[in-house]
Parts: sequence; structure tokens; C-alpha cells
Amino acid sequence: MKNIDLLKLFKFKESSKKITVLTCYDATFSNTISDAKIDAILVGDSLGNTIQGHETTVPVTIEDLIYHTKCVANGNNHCFIIADMPFMSYYEDNLAMENAKKLMQAGANMIKLEGGTNLLPLISKLNQHGIPVCAHIGLTPQHVNISGHKVQGKLEKDKQEIKNTALALEEAGVKMLVIECVPEDLAEDITNSIKIPTIGIGAGPNTDGQVLVLYDILGLFGKYNKKSFKFSKVFLDKEHPTISSAIEYYRDSVENRTFPAKENCF
Ligand code: KIV
Repeated sequence: MKNIDLLKLFKFKESSKKITVLTCYDATFSNTISDAKIDAILVGDSLGNTIQGHETTVPVTIEDLIYHTKCVANGNNHCFIIADMPFMSYYEDNLAMENAKKLMQAGANMIKLEGGTNLLPLISKLNQHGIPVCAHIGLTPQHVNISGHKVQGKLEKDKQEIKNTALALEEAGVKMLVIECVPEDLAEDITNSIKIPTIGIGAGPNTDGQVLVLYDILGLFGKYNKKSFKFSKVFLDKEHPTISSAIEYYRDSVENRTFPAKENCF
């Protein structure tokens, strides 16, 4: 099958085929994920946790993301590649445009930004220059020092605000939305209200796709987090004892809607 592109991801939403996404940071895993026919790879700033051993994603730099995006692009032969813009790499539009250009030239097909309506002018500028944007709402780890690591959108007024943000982001030209750690009814409502694909993590079963951190599904935990998060699952087990079989098990579980299960939702 030809590489997955944005058009295909939109078609998956239309046809209700669940979109499968995993984080990845290097060429060998990228090739394994490609062979397992996962739809998209996120070169996430979670590399700050998984690769660099930091407690948060705050120390990650644009140079780190460029390096890991190049590695992933070198190993990939199937997946759509989304690269994260790290902490403070888009606080000002000219800086953001320059950094987004570097990620696209490193092999990304789309860049991801954490945040809401403050990003609207930047999103249309990026679009005008041919750079597709994925926005990331709900729990946004780059804001950990302000909002902590907790489920967002529990109160009715917060739900409405997050939904309005999603609608405004779509209107501004965002082409994909990651929704992290919100109640499942909110993620479902947003998914049904917009035409762009939604990719959930801790957002329940009714988003258009799911993303998990590769190391989490393989049961590889660092010093700050010794066990699986509620919203995640270790897919490497007795029945799926190899890395490839665990990745395929994740893919199948998302596609046949057995993951996320009730116990993974808020
Ligand atoms: O950096 C990352 O891995 C992410 C996902 C957890 C969505 O942003």
C-alpha cells in the first residue's frame, strides 16, 4: 500500500475506520511500525521522557525534534509522520514558521502544536505556506507547570470551552486534533461536531483514532513512572511476545474497538 497521506486519514474518518497512531523516535522502530501498518507516527516531545529521561517535556528542544524526525523518516515506508513543536518553539510567529519549516524539511508531513485559540493566527499562516497543523487540546503536557497532569474538561463550563476551542481550531485550518485526557463524552461530542480527524489519548473510544506512547505499550517504563497509565495498556504479553506482534495487537485492538476499554476511560 502507498504511504498514508492526509487525504487517506480524512477518508478513514468518513468511513469510520479507526486511525492508529504510535509515538516513535528512531529509524528501527519506525520501520517496525511501518511494517505493522500503523497509520501514523507521532515524533512526540514525549521523547523528553522516553529517550532523555526527563520528568517533563519542557527540556526538549527543536534540535532534538529535528534529529528524531530525520531518524523516523529514514526508517519509515508507510506511515504519515507528525512532528511535535516543543516547548517555547512557537511563542512568536516568525520563530514558529522557521521551526515548522525545519521539521517539514526533516521529513514530517504535519506539525503538532499544544494549545488553543492563541494559536489561530499562526495556524492560518502555516497553512498558507503549505504546512498542515495538528492541534493538541485537553491535557497539554507543555503546560504542566500551570495546569498539572490532570484530566481536563470535567466541569460543564470547561467542556463548553474545550469544544469551542476545537471548533475555532477547525475553522482556522487545523487538519487534525489530538485530544488528551478528557471525559469520553466530551471527546465524542467534539468528534461528531468537526470534519477533521480526532485522535484520542485518554479520551475514550469514540474519537476517530487513538495514539499511545510506544514505550508504554511495550511495558518499558522510566524512573518517574513505574506502571501503565490508566489510559494506556501494555500490549506486549504472553500471546504477543515480540515487539512486532505487540504493535499489531495494539493496531487490531484500536481497529476492532476493544481498546480503549471502559477501564481506560475518564
Ligand atoms: O509527545 C507525545 O507523545 C504526545 C502524545 C502523548 C499525544 O503528545
